[in-house]
Amino acid sequence: MICLSVYYGLKVFSSALVLWNLLLFVEALETTRDIKVEKVQVSVNGDRSIATVSENFICATLDWWPPEKCDYGTCSWGHSSLLNLDLRNSILQNAVKGLSPLLLRLGGSLQDQVIYNVGNIQRPCGTFFSAAGLFGFSEGCINMSRWQDLNEFFYLTGSQVAFGLNALYGREQDTSLRWDSSNTQSFIQYTADNLYPVYAWELGNELSSSGVGASLSISQYAADIKELRIIIDRIYAGWTEKPLVVAPDGFFEKSWYAQFLQETGTQVLDACTHHIYNLGPGISTNVLDTRILDPDVLNNVVGTFDQLQQTIQTHGPWAQAWVGESGGAYNSGQHLVSDAFLSSFWYVDQLGMAACFNTQVYCRQSLVGGNYGLLNRTTFQPNPDYYSAFLWKELVGTQVLATNVIATPKLRAYAHCSKGDTIYIHHA
Ligand SMILES: *[C@@H]1O[C@H](CO)[C@@H](O)[C@H](O)[C@H]1NC(C)=O
Ligand SMILES: *[C@@H]1O[C@H](CO)[C@@H](O)[C@H](O)[C@H]1NC(C)=O
Repeated sequence: MICLSVYYGLKVFSSALVLWNLLLFVEALETTRDIKVEKVQVSVNGDRSIATVSENFICATLDWWPPEKCDYGTCSWGHSSLLNLDLRNSILQNAVKGLSPLLLRLGGSLQDQVIYNVGNIQRPCGTFFSAAGLFGFSEGCINMSRWQDLNEFFYLTGSQVAFGLNALYGREQDTSLRWDSSNTQSFIQYTADNLYPVYAWELGNELSSSGVGASLSISQYAADIKELRIIIDRIYAGWTEKPLVVAPDGFFEKSWYAQFLQETGTQVLDACTHHIYNLGPGISTNVLDTRILDPDVLNNVVGTFDQLQQTIQTHGPWAQAWVGESGGAYNSGQHLVSDAFLSSFWYVDQLGMAACFNTQVYCRQSLVGGNYGLLNRTTFQPNPDYYSAFLWKELVGTQVLATNVIATPKLRAYAHCSKGDTIYIHHA
């Protein structure tokens, strides 16, 4: 039924194609129910790749939410935070090793309320508690013994780290003030002195445009990023590989992102991140499952990917595009949907789509925590999407091939060269 034409001159690993076809075929069946045979044509252009993703494409997040974080009466975070996750659990360790080297993005809403207990901090180092602050929580704090434990975990599991820094320090009440980078400087210095490897330092979470909770003006944010760049260049002077500087980790808005790239200036920002929650709120009972299987909903981010790619090409061609955080349904997802098999129809489609637009990194919210974890929050057993991430890591290479589908929009296909394949271009 599937007529597959692979162009001559390029090795295409069939398993990768089989994986997508299988998933997508099931989707087509699932939604028709009265099974009828339909002729479809999928063609892959193997002449050249249309995009290349980084080796770190598969990424997952660890967040700061405390057990008291609840949405719609459900508290779905338990002990999954950077401050309380059981790092010695062998199932957790093995699951992360299974995706090794896995890029872990450490951040989320509360990152802009985190104090690093190093340097001249003159206050007690406590965890988050329910309070009248942003997102309903107080400031929180990480001590350096916890940071050491986390780094031992990253080393043991072969993980790489993208750390989201607190961009509101010193201006929690008034975001028009300049960023007080003193605590961040002490923290980065401490991290570098201890030779804890960091792949990327990110500044701020969802503070772009009108923000979620709080926001920064473009010119202020751009000035802060320039300051971070100087700090990193100074602290890592002489290192052969410097961490990347990454921002703004917000929701894409073309004019905001364009001006931000312009104002930060040449070679300051290494990666431009955006967040995706295109399925709507986690509360949408009985709606999320149909939304996941609706091609119009799945396609509602094509424009975002396309415009971000264009914006970067025009205003900041030195920067990579990253999906810094993406969980499908916001406010912690929905149990039995975003932690179930169904979710992979959204997740795998997102990975395929993002890659077509040169997205270098795609961070899934979350590795563990909320209702959208790749791992079960209490047992750390893999949820179905873990296996999708695992198969991607095992099979799918970095070169993306143009794939054309002539069929119902419910059939979705993407093709990459197999992992480890070097592209061989045949000149006819
Ligand atoms: C450091 O922080 C962790 C997690 O918040 C906590 O369990 C531990 O007791 C703290 N250690 C010290 C020495 O304060
Ligand atoms: C996680 O594991 C617990 C304990 O076995 C179970 O009750 C729960 O349903 C699991 N969650 C998911 C999403 O499978």
